[in-house]
Amino acid sequence: MSVKKQILVTGGTGYIGSHTVVELLAAGYEPIIVDNLSNSSAKIIDQIEKITGVVPVFHHLDLCDEKATRDFIDNHPAISGVIHFAAFKAVGESVAEPLKYYKNNFYSLTNLLTACAERPVNFVFSSSCTVYGQPNHLPVAEDAPVQPAESPYGNTKQVAEEILRDTAKVSKNLNIISLRYFNPVGAHASALIGELPLGIPQNLVPFITQTAIGKRESLTVFGDDYNTPDGSCIRDYIHVVDLAKAHVASLRALELNKISNYEVFNIGTGKGSSVLEVIKAFERVSGEKLNYTIGSRRPGDIEQIWGEVKKAEQILGWKAELGLEDMMRSAWAWEEYLVEHPIV
Ligand code: UD1
Repeated sequence: MSVKKQILVTGGTGYIGSHTVVELLAAGYEPIIVDNLSNSSAKIIDQIEKITGVVPVFHHLDLCDEKATRDFIDNHPAISGVIHFAAFKAVGESVAEPLKYYKNNFYSLTNLLTACAERPVNFVFSSSCTVYGQPNHLPVAEDAPVQPAESPYGNTKQVAEEILRDTAKVSKNLNIISLRYFNPVGAHASALIGELPLGIPQNLVPFITQTAIGKRESLTVFGDDYNTPDGSCIRDYIHVVDLAKAHVASLRALELNKISNYEVFNIGTGKGSSVLEVIKAFERVSGEKLNYTIGSRRPGDIEQIWGEVKKAEQILGWKAELGLEDMMRSAWAWEEYLVEHPIV
C-alpha cells in the first residue's frame, strides 16, 4: 500500500487554501491544514468534508509563534511539502497598518522556513502579479522587472520572494516555487466553498455578487476613462479551482526535480477582461441585472495587466481550463448558497 504524501497547507481554511486542500485530496495527497482563523472559519473543514468525504486534519496554530511552529514541524516528520498561503492580504489595511502586515507576513514565513530547514521540503508560496506594477509589455512574463510596491501588502510579496530565493540558494533541503497569481475569482463547482470577504468586499467579483443578492446597493466601476477598448481597467481573472490545481502541479514538478532551487511562475489565463466585460459575463450567466454606476478611478489601480503563462504550461504542465463565465457562474452559485447556509 502506498503511503500518502503529507502536505502542510498554511491558511488552508482560507479562500485559495480550501480549494487547494480539495484538489490535494483528489490528487491522493494527505493535506494537513494549519490556520489561526484570523480571516476564515473552522466551518470550512465541514464544507471540505461534504465535498471530498474526508475530514482534513486541522491544527489551530499561529505561525508567528516561533516555538509552536518549530514544535509542530518537529512533531510531523512525514511532511514533505508545504504550501504557504497564510498571510494578510488587504491592500488598504496594509497602508493604514504597515507593521501589522510586515510582522505577520514575515514572521510567519521566516518561522516556517527555519522550522523546515533540517529536512527536504518542497515549498510553494503564494505570490501575486502585483509585483509587476503596471508592466511596459503585455502579456507580462516572469522576467519582467519587479516595480516598486504600491502598498505594504505588495511589498510583503516582493520581499517574501527575495527571502525565498536567498534561502533556496544556500539550502540543501529546500526547493521553492513562487506562484504569481493574477486575479483569483469564482468558487468550487459544488458551491460549498468560496470567497468569504470580511466586511465590505474590496475586490470586484464579491462586490458584484453581493450587490446582485441585495447585500450592497450598487457597484461602482472605478473609472471608464482608461486607455482600454471600453475605458475600464483590464485584469487576468483566474478561476480559483484552476489556481488550486496549479499548486498540485507545482508540488509534482518539485517532486520530479524539474525545479531546483527557486522558480517563479505566472498563474493566470493569459487573457485580459475589462471590468465592464466581467459585469456583462455576470449578467449573462446569472440572468440578473446588476445595479452599477461609473465612478472615479481608485487610487493605486493599474490600468491593465494580463499574464504570459507559457512557462507554467511548459514546466508545470498546467494551464487554466475554465473561462470567465465559469468564474461568474460559480461565484454566483456560492453567493446564493450563502443565503441559505451562512458561514461566519
Ligand atoms: C487587488 C489588489 C492587489 C491584490 C489583489 C488580490 C489593489 C490596488 N490591488 O487587485 O494588490 O493582489 O487585489 O486579489 O487593491 N473594481 C471596481 N469596483 C469595485 C472593485 C473593483 O471597478 O468595487 C475594479 C478595479 O478598479 C480593478 C478590477 O475591478 O480594475 C479588479 O479589482 P480588484 O478585484 O480589487 O483586484 P485588483 O485591484 O486587480
